[in-house]
Amino acid sequence: MCNGIMSEKTRPFPTHVGIIMDGNGRWAKAHGVPRVMGHNAGMQAMKKIVIASSNMGIKYLTVYAFSTENWKRSTEEVSGIFNLIVKYVNSELEELDENNVHINIFGEYDMLPKASIDAIDKMVGRLADNDGLVFNIALNYGGRDEILKSVKAIAEKCKSGELNPAELTEDDISAYLYSGSTKFNVPDPDLIIRTSGEERMSNFLTWQAAYSELMFTDTLWPDFSPEEYAEMINAYANRDRRFGGRKE
Ligand code: IPE
Ligand code: IPE
Ligand code: MG
Repeated sequence: MCNGIMSEKTRPFPTHVGIIMDGNGRWAKAHGVPRVMGHNAGMQAMKKIVIASSNMGIKYLTVYAFSTENWKRSTEEVSGIFNLIVKYVNSELEELDENNVHINIFGEYDMLPKASIDAIDKMVGRLADNDGLVFNIALNYGGRDEILKSVKAIAEKCKSGELNPAELTEDDISAYLYSGSTKFNVPDPDLIIRTSGEERMSNFLTWQAAYSELMFTDTLWPDFSPEEYAEMINAYANRDRRFGGRKE
């Protein structure tokens, strides 16, 4: 058996994993229960994956919890999802803190119900000084919306003379994304996993995913286990990432 340092050297390990947690609705349908119960089951799955990420030594985890497009769903479903946030915070905050987890929210959440905003603020504040797993929750998040916000912020800086349009770089755009404006500068995701058999990005980390490895599984999100997750992390080691270059 290799020791930790050896295995890290010989087996490429993802620094940042993104997950599109999809299939809660189909899980609910298959079990003959309301959609919101599917979301509740999805939250239980997420709890386990967060702790598994921390235990495996993944540094950054970003989950897609609610997209800018998910507002198209019924009020009942949307408010059901937001109520789950409060439930998650109440049941998990202690364990997250014990695991040294730090939380960022990618997305504007000021239009959520007050109880959800308060729960999020409490959680983010309580875990602010932690420096273990950086757990990013994409909430009311859209990749294009995020890029647009970055471009607007940069345009303002150009107008005031702080930035010169001719000298803008890709790093400038990255710096104004949610991922670039947090305490721990979140690098681009190495691996993005999507459950439920859908094979699309649905507006997730549009800028950051330019060179991410993608993995898809038919498993519905509530059934996604730490074991399947670990298999995917292992499979990542066999991917050949070339970034447009050539191996000699
Ligand atoms: C993912 O599950 C959770 C959210 C989008 C909030 P879905 O609710 O999209 O589940 P399906 O795709 O309908 O099965
Ligand atoms: C993507 O799933 C958003 C989240 C997982 C939060 P959707 O179920 O909303 O995506 P589409 O509509 O199938 O592309
Ligand atoms: Mg879906």
